[in-house]
Amino acid sequence: MPTNLLPAEARADSILASLEQSGQYKHLRMIEGPMGPVVKIRGYGDCLCFCSNNYLGLANHPEVVEAGIRGLREFGAGTASVRFICGTFAPHEALEARIASYMGTESAYTFVSAWTAAEALFPTLCEPGDLIISDELNHACIIDAIRLATTIKKGINKAVYRNNLLEGPNSLRAALEAARANPDVTGQIWVVTDGVFSMEGSIADLPAMRRLCDEFNALLVVDDSHGHGVMGETGRGTHEHFGMIDGAFDPLKSTLSNLMSDSLRRNRVDLFTGTLGKALGGGAGGFVAASRRFIDLLIQRGRPTLFSNALPVTVACSAAKAIEILSARPELVKTLRSNVQYARQKIKAAGFSVLESPTAIMPIIVHDTAKAIAMSKRLLELGVFVIGFGYPVVPEGHARLRIQMSAAHTTQHIDTLVDALKKL
Ligand SMILES: Cc1ncc(COP(=O)(O)O)c(C=O)c1O
Repeated sequence: MPTNLLPAEARADSILASLEQSGQYKHLRMIEGPMGPVVKIRGYGDCLCFCSNNYLGLANHPEVVEAGIRGLREFGAGTASVRFICGTFAPHEALEARIASYMGTESAYTFVSAWTAAEALFPTLCEPGDLIISDELNHACIIDAIRLATTIKKGINKAVYRNNLLEGPNSLRAALEAARANPDVTGQIWVVTDGVFSMEGSIADLPAMRRLCDEFNALLVVDDSHGHGVMGETGRGTHEHFGMIDGAFDPLKSTLSNLMSDSLRRNRVDLFTGTLGKALGGGAGGFVAASRRFIDLLIQRGRPTLFSNALPVTVACSAAKAIEILSARPELVKTLRSNVQYARQKIKAAGFSVLESPTAIMPIIVHDTAKAIAMSKRLLELGVFVIGFGYPVVPEGHARLRIQMSAAHTTQHIDTLVDALKKL
């Protein structure tokens, strides 16, 4: 052990050593080629990848790659600016129009990640006297964004309800009723949930949440990062899965101008956040899709966009192409769904219990973090890349292997996965 460590470095060393001892240390795997159903991993060679968010197989789609290259050639490597100074380029405008059109909202705005989108949303749009009510299993970016909002603006209230529990003690209704009796809650109530819960693969009961929000005059905010491109007939998300879009919607025919007049009546979710780093191209970037007023205020006041660089243009071009492909080829979503069905049935037949859900996330609960990590390591030796998740990503005692399906997987890939699982 070196003797000349700063006290904080010595502290870091001891935390790292305890992670290593308890089998919780995460070793980064080096990928030496593009993301796809098969990835080349340093030291392991070609492995089947069942842990990426590349749900539609668009991360290395030739047109998506080409769009990025064209963006790079035409607009260069960097914006060298935040959006409001000189960092807003034509591809940002095009991407944001496409996102708004696809989500069926009046407007949309991009950020460098869904994480920063959430960090912009709550601290900017909420004010003292408001109440934010959050599902206990919401993604870390929602949790931290709410913490940030309540720290920056004293007087913003927060409450948490049990995962997907809408009635009874500790439920969303209980939080809404408590708010009625709370003299500190004088402003807007915001109810926020993940559409698809990323570690469970389960989905929020959006129709019932909408009814509660209407009853208590609350806004419904959905982070559908794992739902966009996955859920619903055309992959528009969990609200589409539940038929929460009034009237026929053709993303290809809709334009920003006709959406402005009727999108809010059609769309039964008030604000969406989402990522471009999963099904929608898998590069990076996040967005808020909502009414023009909310988006305008985010542009004016959102600190992550005022003080941090714009989404790189090349990424914006690739993401726009990915959404264009999804809009034109919704059968990709069908392929993903039939892969999920096939895999679920085979994994269950092999004797594993997989949490039920209509999503592309299939967790196999193994409880113990070290065991999950050891199983994942063994799978990798068998040529199958699946990650074991433990504390603090999931609660203590709920460690799991999380299998994620892609439209790019073949039945042969899935059979090989199941054979490897059987060997465990
Ligand atoms: C539900 C959810 N929201 C947000 C994010 C963050 O997305 P990004 O990588 O764009 O910050 C993730 C990523 O894991 C997620 O699962």
